[in-house]
Amino acid sequence: MLRNPAEKYRPFPAIRLNGRKWPTRTIERAPIWMSTDLRDGNQSLIEPMSIEQKTEFFEMLVQIGFKEIEVGFPSASQTDFDFVRKLIDEKRIPDDVTIEVLVQSREDLIARTFEALEGASRAIVHLYNAICPSFRKIVFGQSKEEVKALAVNGTRMIREHADACPQTHWTYQYSPETFSMAELTFAREVCDAVAQTWRPTRDHKMIVNLPATVEAAMPNVYADQIEWMDRNLAYRDSIVLSVHPHNDRGTAVAAAEMAVLAGADRVEGCLFGNGERTGNVDLVTLAMNLYTQGIDPGLDFSDIDAVRRVVERCNQLPVHPRHPYAGDLVFTAFSGSHQDAIRKGFALQQPDAIWEVPYLPIDPADLGRSYDAVIRVNSQSGKGGATYLLERGMGFTPPRRVQIEFSHAVQKVTDASGVEITGEAICSLFEREYFETKGPATMVGAGRARFEGRDVAIAAAAQIDEAHAQAVAAAFADVAEESVEITSFETARTAQGGTAVFVGARVGGQALRHGVGVADDAAQAVLAAVISAINRATWQTVDRRVAA
Ligand code: KIV
Ligand code: ZN
Repeated sequence: MLRNPAEKYRPFPAIRLNGRKWPTRTIERAPIWMSTDLRDGNQSLIEPMSIEQKTEFFEMLVQIGFKEIEVGFPSASQTDFDFVRKLIDEKRIPDDVTIEVLVQSREDLIARTFEALEGASRAIVHLYNAICPSFRKIVFGQSKEEVKALAVNGTRMIREHADACPQTHWTYQYSPETFSMAELTFAREVCDAVAQTWRPTRDHKMIVNLPATVEAAMPNVYADQIEWMDRNLAYRDSIVLSVHPHNDRGTAVAAAEMAVLAGADRVEGCLFGNGERTGNVDLVTLAMNLYTQGIDPGLDFSDIDAVRRVVERCNQLPVHPRHPYAGDLVFTAFSGSHQDAIRKGFALQQPDAIWEVPYLPIDPADLGRSYDAVIRVNSQSGKGGATYLLERGMGFTPPRRVQIEFSHAVQKVTDASGVEITGEAICSLFEREYFETKGPATMVGAGRARFEGRDVAIAAAAQIDEAHAQAVAAAFADVAEESVEITSFETARTAQGGTAVFVGARVGGQALRHGVGVADDAAQAVLAAVISAINRATWQTVDRRVAA
């Protein structure tokens, strides 16, 4: 009989942590960032980066503001070895940036690592070994003592190599790989033994990096583990406590944020969450999440599209269109009610005020994104989106009743095509609907009009207002021998300095239609609006035009 697959798995054991502090804390400053794009990220790529790609990526990371960059695993890869040499030999590492390299606990690998780093003014040497029960049992067949000895011996060998090259400022990093799946007391025992061997000081700290190599539990569990280590590690004040979440459960960002609440000083991850399997924690999202809480992340993503282009080129992987902050669609609203709210938010938002545009957690301009893609119109959109694009394209806002009427024309088009309609196409549709009307009424010059070939006497007006529009309509009614009733009259200034006039009209008691006229001369705009309304109200309804 088929068993329920859920029976194959065990719940993650609860962490015993009395009086946990992290849930009531807030993040007040950015952690130290460490980009491992060129190591962990690169190791996960279908095609690892070439030296040229690594160089381009490295330079971009420096530009963004990373001060610690893991550049590779030089004892495991000739490309990484050559790349580290290139950075050092060509003096490409700024004084305030420290490169980091990964190594395992073996004398030959450690020797090769120091060979790669020779001549660097500062470097972080990063040792790791797996410590959790399943790895001890399945992968290495090692006892706890053997695992600890491996870490301590590696640390001793690195200490000896470092002492032999005092011209470089060395920082030591130890990662108990698979930390989050290990017994906390054993993780502490190994880290304490490593620190005891390295002997960090407050002035020259070592880094203890606690990875969720595979994210196996909820982020609050990771936070508990970090707070427990923060409380219980020996040499804590001589240690930079670092975290390295992976994203197997899709909660790496939450895990990193909670880990910072729990006492982590430093976060390792990759841009846009690249990395083995589901990736490392996404440093772009983490940094921008801080930004929207009023905390300067110390990383510059003010041209996110340029960063994205480099990352996509080097990783040969696309960034998802719904990636927070950087995806193509994240500053885009198709839904009508969202568009309405965004449009109102934009209209009220003052340049130096706290950002308060509904549905947009961040000002796209802060990421170098334009407002162009914010509102896009398809068959799911209501009048708000079309109005916004119309405003941008035409330079005026039609009154609500015209917006509603015009939205039916847009809806017809998008329903028929099934695809998005551009701002340009919306403006063309508006022009066809309201300016290029065909029907009995025509304009034949300034202040001159005809109805079915017969002249209409348009009297000059002292004031351009609704009474003038009524008078113009009456002149048409005379010639048409039919009632022309003006039901509404509104005006607006256009962005170009002209006048837009909007009138509602009923001809011979038929359905109400609106007309729009735009001109530099207000009287001309009124005449154009009345003609537009009469034509649309007589035979050229929205429905018929769209069908045509
Ligand atoms: O995920 C991991 O555990 C690692 C270590 C080498 C830090 O990448
Ligand atoms: Zn990793």
